[in-house]
Amino acid sequence: MSSKRQILVTNALPYANAALHLGHILEYTQTDVWVRFQRMRGHECYYVSADDAHGTAIMLKADEKGISAEQHIADMRAIHEADFRDFLIGVDNYHSTHSEENRELSELIYNRLNDNGHIAKREITQAFDPEKNLFLADRYIKGTCPKCKTDDQYGDNCEACGATYAPTDLINPVSAISGATPIEKESTHYFFKLPEFTEFLQEWTRSGAVQTEVANKLGEWLDSGLQEWDISRDAPYFGFEIPNAPGKYFYVWLDAPIGYMAAFKNLCDRDDIDFDQYWAPDSTTELYHFIGKDIVNFHALFWPAMLKSANYRTPTKVCVHGFVTVNGKKMSKSRGTFINARCYLDHLNPEYLRYYYASKLSGSVEDIDLNLEDFVQKVNSDLVGKVVNIASRCAKFVANGNNGVLSGNIENPELWEQVRGAADSIAQHYENRDYGKAIREIMAQADASNEYIAAKEPWKLNKVEGKQQEVQDICSLGINLFRLLLGYLKPVLPAMAAEGEAFLNSELSWDSLQQPLSEHSINPFKPLMQRIEKDRVDAMVEASKDEAAQAAAPQLEGPLADDPIADEINFDDFIKVDLRVAQILKASHVEGAEKLLQLTLDIGGETRNVFSGIKSSYKPEDLEGRLTVMVANLAPRKMRFGMSEGMVLAAGDKQGIYLLEPDSGAQPGQRVT
Ligand code: MSP
Ligand code: ZN
Repeated sequence: MSSKRQILVTNALPYANAALHLGHILEYTQTDVWVRFQRMRGHECYYVSADDAHGTAIMLKADEKGISAEQHIADMRAIHEADFRDFLIGVDNYHSTHSEENRELSELIYNRLNDNGHIAKREITQAFDPEKNLFLADRYIKGTCPKCKTDDQYGDNCEACGATYAPTDLINPVSAISGATPIEKESTHYFFKLPEFTEFLQEWTRSGAVQTEVANKLGEWLDSGLQEWDISRDAPYFGFEIPNAPGKYFYVWLDAPIGYMAAFKNLCDRDDIDFDQYWAPDSTTELYHFIGKDIVNFHALFWPAMLKSANYRTPTKVCVHGFVTVNGKKMSKSRGTFINARCYLDHLNPEYLRYYYASKLSGSVEDIDLNLEDFVQKVNSDLVGKVVNIASRCAKFVANGNNGVLSGNIENPELWEQVRGAADSIAQHYENRDYGKAIREIMAQADASNEYIAAKEPWKLNKVEGKQQEVQDICSLGINLFRLLLGYLKPVLPAMAAEGEAFLNSELSWDSLQQPLSEHSINPFKPLMQRIEKDRVDAMVEASKDEAAQAAAPQLEGPLADDPIADEINFDDFIKVDLRVAQILKASHVEGAEKLLQLTLDIGGETRNVFSGIKSSYKPEDLEGRLTVMVANLAPRKMRFGMSEGMVLAAGDKQGIYLLEPDSGAQPGQRVT
C-alpha cells in the first residue's frame, strides 16, 4: 500500500442563527464519506467543524429571542451537534468560532498581517440606523426599486425586475430592523490588502487546488482586479474586538475560516496532536476544505492570501459543491421542501439520504436534485432490493446447512475476481469525490452477484440429494460478495456496515476485503435495512409545511393554549418555585431589543431588574404602578442588555400576552401559593 497520508478535513462552519437543513446535510455527507473512506484506507485523517457564531445576524437573533448572544449560540451549538451526530457525521471535534483558541489565533493572524503592511485603514460612509445605533449592511435596508418601483425590496437588487443598484438608490429606504430612515455616517474601517496577493492567487488557483470550473470563475475575478477587503465592523457587533482598535470588531468572515484552525487546535490540545506539523508553511500534511459554491471567494481568495501573509501553509484543495434543489426547484417553505435536518430525522433513516446524496454526487459544482420519488425508488431498489437481498437469500442456507460456517471453496473464481477487482477503481472514484460513479460501479457488481445467485437457484438445489456442498459453496460466495459490496459502501453507510460487520463477524477495512472469508463463522442474519415507506416521505413534507407556517407566525412567549399539559410533578417540586407579589416601579424600552421591556420590581423591600418579552402587548407607561406575580428564586440570567433577576408571570399565545395580576389588596413581597 502507498504510504500513510496525514490529512486534515473541514466542512463550512454552519451559522449559529438557524437550524441545519437538507442543503447543509449534502455538504456534511460529502465531507464525511470522504473522511471515512480515507480512514478505511488506513490514513490519518482528522475532521473538524464548528459553529460560526459571530456577526450581526446572530446578535439580532439573540435579541429577538430575548436572550444573550452567548446563550443563543450555546443553544444552537447543541442543536447542530445533535444533527451532526444523528446524520452519522463523524467529526473528531465540533467547536465554536466564539472560543479562546479562535480569539488567540485571530489576533495572532491579524497582527502578522498588520506587521507585514497588509492592513489599510480609512474612513468610509455607510448607512446607519439612528434608532438602533447600528450601521446597516445592504441586506438590512429595504425600499422601493428605483427601476420598476416595486415596494419592499432588499439591499442592492430587486427581486421583481432583477435590477442591481446601490442601497442609496432605493426610493424611501428604511432600516429593515427598526423601520427608521437610515442616515449616512462616517467611520474608520480596516481593510486587508488583497490586491497585493493577485500574482500569488493567480498561481495558487491554477495549481490544482480547486476544480477547473472554479479556477476559471476565479480567473475572471482576478483579471477584473481585486478590491481591498473590509474586515472591520463597528460596535455593537457580536465578535472579537480588533487589537488596539477599541469599538472595532473583526468582520465575521475574518475569524470564521480561522475557526478551522481553532477547532483543530482544541482537538490537538485534547488528543496531543502536533498542531504546527499541520499548519507550518512547509507542511507535508494535506488540508482539505469542503464548501458550497456560494462561499468560494472567501475560501479561494481571502483565506489563502491571509494564510500566505501570516506564514501558514495554504489549503491542498478547496472542494466546491453545488446546491440542493428538491423536486427540481429551489427548496421552498410553502411547498414543504425546505426540510430541516431534524424534521427529516423524525421521519426517516439518515442512511437513506446519505446513500441518495452519494449516488448523485460528483466532483463538480453542479446543483444536486433531491427528487423525492426517485429517492424512495433508488434506496428501495438498490439497498434493499440488491445489496441486502444477497445476504438474506444466502444466510439461512449457511446457518442451517453448515452451522453458520462459510465454505472454504470459491464456487465461481471469475465472479469473485471481478467484484474484488473493482476495488481500485471504486477507490479512485471516492478519492475524486465522484461518489455517483463509485455507487454505479458497486451496483453493477451487485447486479452481477444477484444474477449469479438467481441462476444457481440454491433454494432448489438444496432440495436435491447430494448437492449440499454445492449449496454451501454458492451461498458462501454470495455472502462473500455481499461482504465486498458492504465494504465498498461502508464510507456511505457506516451504521449498516457496523451491523453487517456484526453479522459477518469480521471488520471491513479496505485491505482486508481483498481476502474472502473462508471456513469462517458468521452470526444469524437480521435484515439490515427496511424499505422506505412513501407515506413517511409525505408526512415529512407536511411536517415541514407546518414548521414553516409556525415560524412565520408571531413568536410566542410561553406555552401555546393548545400545548399538551406538562408532565406531572409533586407538591415538593411545586413549592420550590418561590412566587411573590411584585409591584412594577418602573418599565422602559430596551435599546436594541425587539420584544423586551425592562422592569424594575418591588418585592417587599427588595427590588429586582427583570427583562420580560411583553413589549408586543404593553406600553411601559401603562405598567408602572401595577401589581403582578414574579418567580423570585429563578437563577439570574445574563443577557446582552444586563442581568435578568427573575421572571414575571403572563398568559400568552397567538392572540396576545396577558400579565397576571393579584386581586386588589395584595402586598408586594407576599408569597403566592
Ligand atoms: N458560516 C458560513 C461558512 C463559514 S466557513 C469558514 C456559511 N454558513 S451556512 O450555514 O450558510 O452554510 C454552510 C454550508 O452549507 C456552506 O458551504 C453552504 O454552501 C452550504 N449550503 C447551504 N445551503 C445549501 C444548499 N441548499 N445546498 C447545498 N449546500 C448548501 O456559509
Ligand atoms: Zn425592480
